[in-house]
Amino acid sequence: MKTIVITGATSGIGYAVCRAFAQMRWAVLGVGRSEATCGAAERKLREEFPGADIRFFPCELSKQTEIIRLGETLTKTLRDDFGGRLDALVNNAGCVRNYYTTTEDGYETVFAVNHLAAFLLTEQLLPALVEAGGRVLVTSSQSHLGTKVRWGDVMLTRRYRPLFAYKQSKLCNLLFAQEFNRRFAQSGVRCYGIDPGLVNTGIGEKNTSGVVKLFWRFHKRRGVSADTSAKTYAHVITSDDADSLYYGQRGPQRFSRQVNGENAKRLWALSDRLCGTSF
Ligand SMILES: NC(=O)c1ccc[n+]([C@@H]2O[C@H](COP(=O)([O-])OP(=O)(O)OC[C@H]3O[C@@H](n4cnc5c(N)ncnc54)[C@H](OP(=O)(O)O)[C@@H]3O)[C@@H](O)[C@H]2O)c1
Repeated sequence: MKTIVITGATSGIGYAVCRAFAQMRWAVLGVGRSEATCGAAERKLREEFPGADIRFFPCELSKQTEIIRLGETLTKTLRDDFGGRLDALVNNAGCVRNYYTTTEDGYETVFAVNHLAAFLLTEQLLPALVEAGGRVLVTSSQSHLGTKVRWGDVMLTRRYRPLFAYKQSKLCNLLFAQEFNRRFAQSGVRCYGIDPGLVNTGIGEKNTSGVVKLFWRFHKRRGVSADTSAKTYAHVITSDDADSLYYGQRGPQRFSRQVNGENAKRLWALSDRLCGTSF
């Protein structure tokens, strides 16, 4: 049986990706923020797909100790029940913040959840991915275009702008995918950035207020359904000839010139330092 781990799996795009793979009878290992949201999503999916192997794992992805614990739990589950193989990891969890906030580890929240969590969880699950010759997907966005990493102040301590924080984190997702492929070209594991398009989900209304919340409430109405965006993930994971770095609903997508080797190596070194890894 094929296995997939999906973060941000309790709502929106992540939940729709769970549905798509439960339907294909893959074992779906979803990750959500709390016991309550995980329990609700697991019950709903099991009702819709009786007999499918669906399991949820709570993890607050802003906390690196929790990500390491999650990595250990998932590795053990994969070893005990699935021959130690992970066919796909979808780093999809993401957030927006109106104001500058930091995590327990002292990092700016959007950078920590949208980028560092994906970096650290992938590092944790690499052996299982190698075992299966699996694929890693990171949910990026077209909003990565027209921005640069603020190298002198990646955590945006000096002048915090919510949209910039989000855009920078989505650029980091593509830089991560690029450097992953350079480093692990011989491993049989490949990494992709995904542009889900504008999707009608609640992302801009969680932990936000005022103009950000209002903007998203109206803007999202023009978006496609999460089930439509999940088709891109299913295509990239199951296709035999997915050889581009970045995919959207219409196939390979153009990405920013900021996604280059120099920036990718620099971000990798910084992420290693911030996560205490040597990935
Ligand atoms: N919607 C769009 O138009 C759009 C466009 C481009 C890219 N994206 C990206 O798509 C991804 C999924 O977003 P979505 O639109 O489907 O919105 P969503 O329904 O809010 O999904 C985001 C998921 O991430 C989880 N999450 C956020 N912070 C977390 C944390 N600290 N620990 C654990 N889980 C956390 C959320 O859990 P909670 O519900 O418990 O907070 C939620 O399940 C994000 O990376 C987003 O940036 C979305």
